[in-house]
Amino acid sequence: MNNQTIDLRSDTVTQPCKEMRKSMAEAIVGDDMYGEDPTINQLQQLICEITGKEEALFVPTASMANQIAIKTLTVLGDAIAVLEHAHVYRFESGAAPVFSGVTLLQIGDINGCISINELQKIIPPDDQHYPPLTLLCMENTHNGQVVPLDNIAAVSDFCKGQGIKMHLDGARIFNASVATGIPVKDYAKHFDTVTICLSKGLGAPAGALICSSNSNIKKIHRFRKMMGGAMRQAGIIAAGGLYALKNNVSHLNKDHELAKYLATEIKKIKKLKIINDPIETNMIFVSYEKLQIENDVFQKHMSSKGIEISCDDAKKITRLVVHRDINIQQIDYLLENLNLLAQQ
Ligand SMILES: Cc1ncc(COP(=O)(O)O)c(C=O)c1O
Repeated sequence: MNNQTIDLRSDTVTQPCKEMRKSMAEAIVGDDMYGEDPTINQLQQLICEITGKEEALFVPTASMANQIAIKTLTVLGDAIAVLEHAHVYRFESGAAPVFSGVTLLQIGDINGCISINELQKIIPPDDQHYPPLTLLCMENTHNGQVVPLDNIAAVSDFCKGQGIKMHLDGARIFNASVATGIPVKDYAKHFDTVTICLSKGLGAPAGALICSSNSNIKKIHRFRKMMGGAMRQAGIIAAGGLYALKNNVSHLNKDHELAKYLATEIKKIKKLKIINDPIETNMIFVSYEKLQIENDVFQKHMSSKGIEISCDDAKKITRLVVHRDINIQQIDYLLENLNLLAQQ
């Protein structure tokens, strides 16, 4: 992948900018296993302020944060509720049953929103034949769509009444917050644990945080160690995240505006169809069924033009993700190429 490539496969491809790299190179570090890395401590403190949580722990990836959260909030043999397309369910290599010994119960959702009715349907009877449902995992944003606060509040109220804990995969919670103007802590307060990712649209090269309460932090520390995620002078990495939280959050708004512009122009191309209309943040799902082109041919063709995209072959859908390393000229160039393909 060279610097000229227009990479729309994910916001995980963002490159650390010069200033971020400088802050990383100059970070003051210490051994984080002793809790002595000042940069990590600063990052953890800042995210506590942002999320309103009492404690936070720096971990290498959002996947690990999610899995530590599940392990912290469940015991062997519990059941947890997950959305059909949730990252914790689909894309973490089946980690939850392996690390936490839990059964996964799939819950129906609409763009990440859960109805109490759907939740009631999957709660197992209080009977020896069934594992108790003790945790519900939500995701915001979910495939680029914002899960509204009133839905989260209603689900959380219900779960409290049932003794079900809540985890938020907030890998892209800053996208939701910037899109709605609702502070991250207003979302976070409904959850026992929250995952924050620094290496997606925020542009840090690595790192995530798991945020929770005093009562959970000892377990979280232990499970991070158990999973091999406790690092030493990792302030060098944390410095990138600290830089991102201080400087890159508002840029997400530009990504959202650019994504909306791209969607508006794609709508003018008759052979393409936007699936997630209206666009709320930085992701656009586009059906290319009418182009009548095979997935790998489509991808290779775009790649030959210097554009990287990912495609779901079965559904003939491509996901285009706008991020801080994408500008309007590149979007126009993409549109030019899509238009040419549609004319063939
Ligand atoms: C919603 C969501 N959660 C969690 C993750 C996991 O992040 P990582 O790959 O850094 O572990 C991703 C990755 O793309 C994601 O999209």
